[in-house]
Amino acid sequence: MSLQKIDLSVPSISDTHQEVQEYYGARARSADSCCGGDSCCSSNGESCGPLQLYDSSELAALPEDVASFSLGCGNPLAIATLKPSEVVVDLGSGGGLDAFLAARAVGPTGFVYGVDMTDDMLALARRNAEKAGVSNVEFRKGNIEALPLPDNSVDVIISNCVINLSPDKEQTLDEAFRVLKPGGRLAVSDIVIDGTLDDLPLSEVQVRAALHWAGCIAGALTRQQYQTLLAEAGFTKIQVEVQSRYSAEAMAGASELAAWDPALVDKVANRFTSSAVTAVKPE
Ligand SMILES: C[S@@+](CC[C@H](N)C(=O)[O-])C[C@H]1O[C@@H](n2cnc3c(N)ncnc32)[C@H](O)[C@@H]1O
Repeated sequence: MSLQKIDLSVPSISDTHQEVQEYYGARARSADSCCGGDSCCSSNGESCGPLQLYDSSELAALPEDVASFSLGCGNPLAIATLKPSEVVVDLGSGGGLDAFLAARAVGPTGFVYGVDMTDDMLALARRNAEKAGVSNVEFRKGNIEALPLPDNSVDVIISNCVINLSPDKEQTLDEAFRVLKPGGRLAVSDIVIDGTLDDLPLSEVQVRAALHWAGCIAGALTRQQYQTLLAEAGFTKIQVEVQSRYSAEAMAGASELAAWDPALVDKVANRFTSSAVTAVKPE
């Protein structure tokens, strides 16, 4: 099933990449003010504090400004069960927080690659690695739709609130499958629609068009779409589990839904979830 068949109203790939790069480049440049305004998941700054996503003991060893820069919507480390010596890739590594936590989990004999397409974000992540004194990590420039990594080279793929931003999710999941070693696993936090957008007074295309792509909501897959694309890429043991739901306030703040009837916003909002997505590449 291609995204054309799924129809997420994806603008062109290059326009989408440009919009996302501009949005997250600005977030990276305003890192000194922590949230820099919007975060990925809520434009009112609600999800800014990574302490909501991570246990404070997980963050204790990192400098405060490094630990406080999260634009994620979950905690992929909590579902990745990383082991010493593993090789990990973080898709859309942002300021590097998950990569640093993964680097600690895999230890000095393991290694973490962060991949991001936004120059200012890569610069921030590299500065943060120095500040945090993490040496078993490298941040590579690249698109998650064409990973700068060889076939069968990675034990675990993590990602936090990024796959929803990809204009070609089928290609992104194919790439994740390609770079994983046989038996390797995927552990991703992402925005996922629980159910469908079929029974609303507006079409799915109209709902998505009213949302903000770079804010991580408009490009979210439904649970069924995620499962289908993962299975088509070759993954097995696929699980998509809801961890929390968006409030109408967060949705209205993040989009043009503010102008809608509050009852409709409510109906749309709690279908958008932060979910844990896990899958395995067969041996
Ligand atoms: C919502 S932020 C999440 C950052 C990080 N994972 C975190 O939890 O803080 C999305 C990040 O993914 C990057 N990104 C989005 N789409 C991408 C793509 N197609 N290829 C590579 N990087 C991408 C952005 O530049 C940004 O740094």
